[in-house]
Amino acid sequence: MGKTIIISNRLPVQLQISNGAITAIPSVGGLATGMKSVHSGGDSLWIGWSGLTEEDISPELEPKIDEALAEHGSSKVKLTEEEVDGFYYGFSNRTIWPLFHYFLEYSEFQLDYWNTYKKVNQKFADAILANAEDGDTIWVHDYQLMLVPQMVRKERPNVSIGFFLHIPFPSFEIFRTLPWRKELLEGVLGSDLIGFHTYDYERHFLSSVRRLLGLEVSFNDITMGDHVIKVDSFPMGIDYKKFSDAAKIHYNKAEGEQSELQQRLNTHKKTDLDAKFFLSIDRLDYSKGIAKRLYAFEYFLNKYPQYKEKVRLIILAVPSRSNVPQYQLLKREIDELVGRINGEFSTVSWTPIWYFYRSMPFENLIDLYTSSDIAWLTPLRDGMNLVAKEYIATRTDKTGVLILSEMAGSANEMNESLLINPNNFEQTADALHEAINMPVEEQKSRNEVLQKRLARYNVEKWANDFMTSLKSQNDREAANVSH
Ligand code: ADP
Ligand code: F6P
Repeated sequence: MGKTIIISNRLPVQLQISNGAITAIPSVGGLATGMKSVHSGGDSLWIGWSGLTEEDISPELEPKIDEALAEHGSSKVKLTEEEVDGFYYGFSNRTIWPLFHYFLEYSEFQLDYWNTYKKVNQKFADAILANAEDGDTIWVHDYQLMLVPQMVRKERPNVSIGFFLHIPFPSFEIFRTLPWRKELLEGVLGSDLIGFHTYDYERHFLSSVRRLLGLEVSFNDITMGDHVIKVDSFPMGIDYKKFSDAAKIHYNKAEGEQSELQQRLNTHKKTDLDAKFFLSIDRLDYSKGIAKRLYAFEYFLNKYPQYKEKVRLIILAVPSRSNVPQYQLLKREIDELVGRINGEFSTVSWTPIWYFYRSMPFENLIDLYTSSDIAWLTPLRDGMNLVAKEYIATRTDKTGVLILSEMAGSANEMNESLLINPNNFEQTADALHEAINMPVEEQKSRNEVLQKRLARYNVEKWANDFMTSLKSQNDREAANVSH
C-alpha cells in the first residue's frame, strides 16, 4: 500500500520568526483543527504553506524551519510575498471566498489574481509530484487548491486523488458569474472522489458540471472521457473525545489550578445565579454574521428589557485575513458596534458585551464553552461550523442551549438546536428568550441526542469514510479498465 499525502494551504501550525527564533503556533480554522486529529494518528505527510514568505526564510534559517515543520509531519511549499498577495489574499480570499459564500458584491474578478492562483497551484502540485509515487493517495483540501487535482493527474495518472471542499459550493446562478468557472471545475475533476460537507453543495456542484461542461452526470458519477469521478457528501465531525475529556478536566479543577478566565467567569456566575452568558466564537469574517448578531442583541435588549443586567454576550473574534479590505472594514464596524451597544446599555455594575479580538489557547476555549449557558452561532453562510459541534461536546452535564443559523452546514445534523434565520431579528430575539427559559430537562434531552450523534460521527469517522470511498472508487475504476 502506498503512502498518504495531505495537501492544503494551511498546515497544522503556522511558523513565526522573532529575534531569530522560530515559534510554531497552532492554526485556527475548521480544516486545520479537523485534519490535525486525523494526521496525528497516522504516518501521512502534510504539505502546505508555513505562514512565512520566501523573503522571511534566510538560508541559515531554512533547515530550522524544515525541522520545526517535520516535528508536525509537515513539509513546506515556498511562496513569495507577491504570490501570497495574489494567491491567498487575492484569488482565494477576494474572489472565491466571497463568491462561494454568496457575497457576490465583494467578489473581485482580477486577471492578475487568477494568474497567480494558477502559478501557485502549480507550485503545490509540483510539491506533491516531488513526493508522490504510483499507488500513493493524495488528499487535496479546499478552495485554495482547486486546480491541483488536474495538475497532478496530468503528470501522475496512477495515483489516487481525493478532493474535499471545506466551504459551501454555491448555486449555479452564483458560480456562473466567475470568469474562470470552467477552469476551476476542470481542475477539481482531476480527482477520483470529490467530497462536500452537505448534499446541497454536492448537488450545486453537479448542476454546474452538467450545465457548464456538458458532461454526463449519472446519479453522483461524472464521466469525463474514460475517467469516472464520484461526488458525495461527507459532513465533517470533530474530535469529540478531545473536547468532552477537556471539559471533564475543566469541571474538576481546584480553584488554584483554574485559568484566570475560568475564575473570572465563575465569580460572575456565583454573584448572580440568574445571569446568563451568551457565547459567540468565530474568525472575524463577514460570512460569520458577527455584525448582524450585534444588531440582533441590541434588538433583543430593547424587546426584552427584563434581561438587562442579567445577560452578557461574550464575543471571541479571531483575527483572520486582515490584509483584505473587507475584513478591515468589518473589524472597524464591530469595534464601533460593541462600543455603541455597551455605551447605550451599560450600568455601573454591568457591561453587556465582553469582546475579545485575539486567538486563545485551547484551554481558554474550553473555559468559554463550558461557562456559557447559550452558544449563539449564526453565520450568514458557513460550510460547516465546527464550533457548534465543539460547544455541544463540552457540555458534559448535558445543559446548555445552542442557537444555530440555518445557513450553517452543521444545521443539517443539529436539528435539536434552536435553528434560526440570522437575518430575522424578531426570531433571533425570541430564540434567545426561549433559550434563557428552556427547562433543564429539555436542554438535557436535546443535548443527549446531539451528543450521541456527534460522538458517533466524529472527525475520525469522517476521514475514514472519505478514504474508504476513495479506495472503492479506485477499485471500481480499475475493474472497469480491465474489462
Ligand atoms: P472556520 O473553518 O470557518 O474558521 P469552524 O467553526 O468550522 O470555522 O472552525 C473553527 C475552528 O477554529 C474550530 O475548530 C475552533 O475550535 C477553532 N478556533 C476558533 N476560535 C479559536 C481560538 N480563539 N483559538 C483557537 N482555536 C479557535
Ligand atoms: O474552513 C474553511 C477555511 O477557509 C479553511 O480552508 C481555512 O483553513 C480556515 O477556514 C481558516 O482560514 P485561513 O486559512 O484563511 O486562515
